[in-house]
This record gives sequence, structure tokens and C-alpha cells, in this order.
Amino acid sequence: MHQVEILPSILSADFARLGEEVKTVEAAGIAMLHVDVMDGHFVPNLTLGPPVMESLRRVTNLKLDVHLMITDPDYFAPIFARAGAYSISVHQEACRHLDRTLRMIQDLGVKAGVVINPATPVATLSEVLNVADYVLVMSVNPGFGGQKFIPNALRKVAQLATIRAERGLQYVIEIDGGVSLENLGDIVKAGADWLVAGSSVFHSVNPGDTVREMRRLARAATTVAV
Ligand code: DX5
Ligand code: ZN
Repeated sequence: MHQVEILPSILSADFARLGEEVKTVEAAGIAMLHVDVMDGHFVPNLTLGPPVMESLRRVTNLKLDVHLMITDPDYFAPIFARAGAYSISVHQEACRHLDRTLRMIQDLGVKAGVVINPATPVATLSEVLNVADYVLVMSVNPGFGGQKFIPNALRKVAQLATIRAERGLQYVIEIDGGVSLENLGDIVKAGADWLVAGSSVFHSVNPGDTVREMRRLARAATTVAV
């Protein structure tokens, strides 16, 4: 339905060489980068804030997909929108007024996504699936790169693809956590459109080649065998 995209997550990049790392994956033909924002409260880790986003914005024209793992997305979403986000996702578990938050992000001229943790069922999103531009299924518990893929996520992706077809909706399905060359084909076949990949890209010997191989595998998985 939507074009499959590989979104390298800069969380696993070398922050001292962030510009170079971005250029390497950009040269491999990607369209989007994934930016993980953590506040030490919603998740037990700290990452980056608006100044890093602004620096990224200056070194690349790639679309920046911001994943807010923070307790106060209503306060920070406009700040990241101003810093150059293309899309901003907020956790279902962090939003008291999820419908309002998603619409607020859209009013900023940015795509609005809703994220569910591994323990959160797809059913909790039934009333916002017609609002969100994309749904992000966490395939690890958020907070760290390099964790093991939780297979239940595949079922949730498939469920979201079925609901999308049944209700005639348009949301993009994104998956984040433990995506690798090994499981990428199954993830695409389950129905995911945007695949976030952190450590499998930036901790590989040649991140550019890894992204190229991921894009090839994703294309192969979307081709229906006859
Ligand atoms: C985890 C982050 C992910 C992370 C994924 O909380 O949301 O985006 O970068 O890293 P990998 O691909 O290594 O699991
Ligand atoms: Zn993420």
C-alpha cells in the first residue's frame, strides 16, 4: 500500500561523528531518518534534544521521523516541529488526551504517529486509527538500541494491516526495535511500511552496504511470487 522505507535510527550512530554517519546512510538511498528522544522518565535512558535536531536539519535534507519517548509530548512536540521534524510519534501510554495530541501535531504541519509498547494491544487505538497518519509498533521495550525482536509485534502489524484494509484507512505502519537483515522479510510480509533499524545498521561493518541490502530485501519481500 505505502512504499516500504528503511529508517536508520541515529541512536546507534557514533554521536561524535553524527554528520558523517548520516551522509553514509543517505548515500545508500534512504528517504527518512529515525530520531529517538528519551527523557529519563518515560524510559530509563537519555538521548538528545532540540539542538541536536537543529544540527541534523542543517546537515541533511532527509525526512526526520521523531519518536518521542517522553512523559510530556504536548510540551515538546511543537519544539521538535519547529526544529524540522517531518513526522512526530507519541506513545499511547504517555498521552492522557491522545486524540487532541495527534491533532495538535497535525496542526503544526507535521505527520502525527501513535506508538504502542509491546504490552499495549492494538485495540487501544481503535478510536484514533482514523486520525493518526502512522502507527508505530514497538518490537522491543523502548529505551535502548540493540535489543532482541519481540515476535508478537508481527501479529500486531498484521492486525493493523487488516484493520486498515477493512476500514479503508490510510495510516502507515511502522515498526521499531530489533529489526535486522534476518527478520526484515517477515516484517515486510506482515504489512510494515516503515522499518526502523539502529544497531543492525550502525554497528555493522559497512552501514551503507547494510542499508542497501535491507532495501533490496524489502523490495524482494513486497514482490508477490507467481
Ligand atoms: C528503542 C528505540 C529504537 C532503537 C532501535 O527504544 O526506539 O528506535 O534505536 O534500535 P535497534 O534497531 O538496535 O533495536
Ligand atoms: Zn525509536
